[in-house]
Amino acid sequence: MSENEYSTIAVDRRDRVGVITLNRPEALNALNTELMGEVVAAAQAFDADPGIGAIVLTGSDRAFAAGADIKEMADKTFSDVVAEQFFGAWDALAGLRTPTVAAVNGYALGGGCELAMLCDLIIAGDTAVFGQPEINLGVIPGIGGSQRLTRAVGKAKAMDLILTGRQMKSDEADRLGLVSRVVPAENTVQTALEIAADIAGKSLIAAGLAKEAVNRAFESGLTEGVRVERNLFYSTFATDDQTEGMAAFVAKRRPDFQHR
Ligand code: HXC
Repeated sequence: MSENEYSTIAVDRRDRVGVITLNRPEALNALNTELMGEVVAAAQAFDADPGIGAIVLTGSDRAFAAGADIKEMADKTFSDVVAEQFFGAWDALAGLRTPTVAAVNGYALGGGCELAMLCDLIIAGDTAVFGQPEINLGVIPGIGGSQRLTRAVGKAKAMDLILTGRQMKSDEADRLGLVSRVVPAENTVQTALEIAADIAGKSLIAAGLAKEAVNRAFESGLTEGVRVERNLFYSTFATDDQTEGMAAFVAKRRPDFQHR
């Protein structure tokens, strides 16, 4: 797909930096299947391009991404999500050789937080809000969140965030070590571009190997964890609470969970 054929993202290049901007403003950049395919295709195209040395992934001022698209997920069954290996394609981002920098302003919730954590660095604007609110929908993180957040911030904070679904501002995310740097929101994308340009100016091979080395430290045991998490995520689609939680969101009412 050529760079101007995407419908849910915008793709640009600044010298040796590839830029992917999520562009579903009507849904706060909620991650649907089409957007996933486009982000992965664009990132893999940059990854295969020796003229690109770093990739910046960003959203809008209001939202990096407000999570997986609940309207797309709401009616899915357990068999659907297993048969589709629903959202499994996101894992490809973890395998990119090229360093990736997430530039996060506004909401990075659920799959949005997980997408930021799939990147190598997170540059957060001071308006950024992180969280894993899946529990409020009767499901759990499904793009690696329970694994990457726990490794990033430790069990105590990960349990707090994942079991309560609360939102965390950028200063707390900074304190916990989830983000690389916090900057004034108006500078987020520019800072990310400068960092990416800095990285892209280094040896592509060394940067790729350095990234691989850091990731080995971070990821030992991760693959198994994500596989288990994915199956548990799928199993939430066998519950009434998933049906209720997502239906309630779509109807803009409070969910009435029956704990079954
Ligand atoms: C679909 C979404 C959405 C989402 C927002 N929208 N988030 N649509 N999926 N995740 C839509 C709303 O329905 C609304 O469209 C429009 O975007 C603006 O959102 P509002 O709610 O009106 O905005 P606001 O009041 O400012 O609240 C912002 C918000 C809230 C706090 C971010 O939208 C929210 O709570 N969103 C859901 C966050 C969430 O639960 N994320 C986790 C998803 S589960 P309309 O047309 O109705 O006006 C997940 C699982 C990952 O990510 C694992 C998958 C494998």
